[in-house]
Amino acid sequence: MKKNKKIIVGNWKMNPETPEEARAIFGGIKRTAAGARNTETVICPPHIFLPLLSKNATPKVQVGAQNAFYEYVGAFTGEVSAHMLKTSGATHVIIGHSERRALGESDEIVNKKVIAALREDLNVILCVGEKARDSEGHYLEFIKQEIVRGLSKVQKRYTFNLLIAYEPVWAIGKSDRDAMSGADMHQMSIYLRKILAELYDAPAAARVPILYGGSVSPFNAEDIVSGGHVDGLLVGRQSLDAKSFGEILRIVDLVRDSKI
Ligand code: PGA
Repeated sequence: MKKNKKIIVGNWKMNPETPEEARAIFGGIKRTAAGARNTETVICPPHIFLPLLSKNATPKVQVGAQNAFYEYVGAFTGEVSAHMLKTSGATHVIIGHSERRALGESDEIVNKKVIAALREDLNVILCVGEKARDSEGHYLEFIKQEIVRGLSKVQKRYTFNLLIAYEPVWAIGKSDRDAMSGADMHQMSIYLRKILAELYDAPAAARVPILYGGSVSPFNAEDIVSGGHVDGLLVGRQSLDAKSFGEILRIVDLVRDSKI
């Protein structure tokens, strides 16, 4: 990861339906990304499209996975190891997405996956975020625990390959007006860096990119990145539309360094 570059991650989830569509969307995104000066893009398709897309990846548009199993090889039906993802051309992997946590992935499993992926030299995008907010602020402790448990036994040297994606579950898959405001995200960015500083130290906290995810669109991208002081975005639905995603990319590319 290059220092001071913004990062836009596209999480395609279980889309699109065919390899032809995957190639077409990826091609469209690559055309816009070619003109980006300050932004790197990472597209995370379903595993099955990784070899196809990684062949066409560039330093500006890389590919990542949406999950990785923590064992290296063996009798684990249906799983794909971090090592296999790496050999399929993935440079990044999303770990602990709320949709996987909803299927039963615990912080302990997330932690094992984080460690396995970092050992494979993959850049890990660790997703955290509360389901709902409460007036007493318990959700802040919940987020902290997701980070502390997710990074248990992860040594400081690995923070060079770590990204944190803050994705409040209540903002995922909604209208772009339901996303966090830049001002609210600014508070959260400060809080997340404080947790990282406590866990490691201030330089580590400063170098881990913080991304926001949850109903990002061209409508809210600038406010979130500029006002929220984040290093990038994790984009779901809009990353399947090369035109909208390209717009988000262009908007973010124009935001001046907004780091806290
Ligand atoms: P969304 O998804 O942009 O469609 O809300 C974000 C995510 O789940 O990563």
